[in-house]
Amino acid sequence: MKNKLIIAIDGYSSCGKSTFARAIAEELNYIYIDSGAMYRTVTLYCMRRNFIGNGGVNTEGILSELNDINIDFVYNSDTNIYETFLNSENVETEIRSMEVSAHVSRISQVPEVRSRLVELQREIGASRGIVMDGRDIGTVVFPDADIKIFMTATADIRAKRRFDELKEKGILIDFEEIKRNIIARDIADENRDISPLRRADDAVILDNSRMNVGEQMSWVKKLIEKKRDGC
Ligand code: DC
Repeated sequence: MKNKLIIAIDGYSSCGKSTFARAIAEELNYIYIDSGAMYRTVTLYCMRRNFIGNGGVNTEGILSELNDINIDFVYNSDTNIYETFLNSENVETEIRSMEVSAHVSRISQVPEVRSRLVELQREIGASRGIVMDGRDIGTVVFPDADIKIFMTATADIRAKRRFDELKEKGILIDFEEIKRNIIARDIADENRDISPLRRADDAVILDNSRMNVGEQMSWVKKLIEKKRDGC
């Protein structure tokens, strides 16, 4: 068994993947990478350049500037999180806006965007000791990950969590709008041609509808122990 693990966490949007993945990384002293933040960052860039809007996607424009989009994660010891930077600008808050959420599915369907981000994700994971969450981590990015978890929860519970999370940041959005966005993203994620969201055959399902983070941590610690014991 390798010393440092690669832990892949996939699942539906607003399932609490990042909270869970971050807690695991903290527990193991691993790096945590939020791959959704990378798709969101590319989306923000495209919105600013008018490559995406209500009219559609300007794929040619995106491809011509794809290599100009630099994404970094910088640890902020005050907030205890890795914040996302786009070309040296901290965009951690902006990439979580409803506008970005509304456009991100279309950007994540562009094949060249996916292959570029998968390449970056593999580079980041090369040194192992990493927890990465997303939609295709166990299936495409790290098919040989040591531990694969597929997370799910009901749409109502996910919308409520997202509502609370935004409210805490002072952003008040109608609950039904959030729920509609979550369901629309589920459909887009599951039905896109490239790397659709699906459970890897060897992923363990975690339905956290009725579990808090502490309960999820106890569950995953057992899974990690078993893996380390070679079971
Ligand atoms: O995890 P999230 O909701 O922040 O992800 C934002 C969007 O990015 C989501 O709608 C689907 C897409 N995504 C993806 O296609 N592949 C990933 N590995 C991660 C996210």
